[in-house]
Amino acid sequence: MSIVMNAKQQAARHAASLIKDGMIIGLGTGSTANYFIEALALRQQQGLDVSTVASSVVSTIKAAELGLKQVGFEYLSSIDVYVDGADEVSPELTLLKGRGSDLVREKLLARASDQFYVLVDKSKLVDRIGQNFPIPIEVMPFAWQIVLESIKKLGGEGQLRKTASGDGLAMTSHGSLVLDMIFDEAIDVRDLNNMLNAVPGVVEHGIFEQLATAIFIGNDHSELEQQWKETS
Ligand code: A5P
Repeated sequence: MSIVMNAKQQAARHAASLIKDGMIIGLGTGSTANYFIEALALRQQQGLDVSTVASSVVSTIKAAELGLKQVGFEYLSSIDVYVDGADEVSPELTLLKGRGSDLVREKLLARASDQFYVLVDKSKLVDRIGQNFPIPIEVMPFAWQIVLESIKKLGGEGQLRKTASGDGLAMTSHGSLVLDMIFDEAIDVRDLNNMLNAVPGVVEHGIFEQLATAIFIGNDHSELEQQWKETS
């Protein structure tokens, strides 16, 4: 019997197949990360012995429901592998993340991991970061106006993110507000990353530069074909 997987599932299964006994695994957030959590739980049922740490409450709950062993974030200084989706991936393997509300934990885990596997379908591949989505910038709530002004001076335009209903402001799980900002495409993403890192009042932002180890690109039209890119 053949199992038909969608592109995200295919990438997730491939990442799960690379996990080894004894590893500490960071669990990302989002629909693709959910497929990975399911695939990892399946491998655990088959005898794999790993510990996990989640990047969000929803992933914590999903991992618990599937019986994955979890370690509290505060007990860890490094992990073996972090596995997550992304909103955009550039040819240099820079990522845009943060359409969800767990950007801070996601970047901490990406930074603390020996390997960061990114799972995407082809729709996430872009020529430049910011091509399809604004850059999410988490800001300390009391400082949002000063931060917005600083970012405008860097060439950004945008506003505070609203809730889905549109009648309130979106808040991250870290308790921050989010500015969704668009920048001129002439600005180099590495420069933008450095500039945003230096703005006081910015808690974190969605550019993940030099963090991904491998990108697994699932393919809807071929059951088991896997395409992947790896940094040198
Ligand atoms: C979560 O904050 C995001 O960074 C997600 O990783 C990203 O939005 C990808 O989501 P999907 O896997 O649902 O496409």
